[in-house]
Amino acid sequence: MKGTLYVVGVGPGDPELMTLKAMRILERCPVWLAPAAKKDGESTALGIAEGVVNRGDKEIITHHFPMKKIRMGETPDPEVKKAWSAAAAQIVAHLQAGRDVAFPTLGDPAIYSTGFYVCETLFALAPDLPVEIIPGVSAIGASAAAAGQPLCLGDDRLVVIPATFENGRLRETLEQFDSVVLMKVHRVMDRLVPLLQEMNLLDKAVLIERSSQSGQRIRRDLTTALHEQPHYFSTIIVRKS
Ligand SMILES: C[S@@+](CC[C@H](N)C(=O)[O-])C[C@H]1O[C@@H](n2cnc3c(N)ncnc32)[C@H](O)[C@@H]1O
Repeated sequence: MKGTLYVVGVGPGDPELMTLKAMRILERCPVWLAPAAKKDGESTALGIAEGVVNRGDKEIITHHFPMKKIRMGETPDPEVKKAWSAAAAQIVAHLQAGRDVAFPTLGDPAIYSTGFYVCETLFALAPDLPVEIIPGVSAIGASAAAAGQPLCLGDDRLVVIPATFENGRLRETLEQFDSVVLMKVHRVMDRLVPLLQEMNLLDKAVLIERSSQSGQRIRRDLTTALHEQPHYFSTIIVRKS
């Protein structure tokens, strides 16, 4: 009998924001393969999962996935592909031995998560292996909740983009939509803040750092982030209305 891979959204940080289903599946899986952004670094998703489920005698694999830009339609960096393949190979070995594997991932697996790249790589190795995706509370909803504001109402058009986009694409998106969620903002504040200022959108923007985690911080004056780089877990919501 083959095992199943579960890509499990563990939410944005607060263990209470993990779903009952995620908890049940993590409890049941004897193997967890958790993504880590830094080599030999800790996995945030694993930390969240462990805040809810006892690791007991589970086999826990922390796997490094380098953080490099991925553009749809373009071949990813070889280092990134290598990390996906190595993760997929380990998962396949467990599944073929009949062991279920959980891949805990921050927030929701459908939003900028490595989980889906690993699934694709896995299907290329073994197309018939069962995979289930367990949705989670995204940092997007958690950030809006922390800021106490909606993402979109009525006929608002909402878009989610990585702030690492070049300025032309960012400007176009900010012009076209009523509500813009900018993720991966922490390293680009020096060009993002002047752009928002130039577009008269600075007072419509809110920066949410570490939503739902200890250390959560809300900044409505984004110019402060020019001198003090925000945490990696930071999201900006720009809502025009
Ligand atoms: C690779 S994406 C993962 C998104 C995740 N799958 C989700 O659904 O929230 C990482 C980005 O999510 C955002 N993020 C993740 N956790 C966050 C948190 N607790 N508070 C604010 N933003 C967060 C940041 O913009 C970060 O750069």
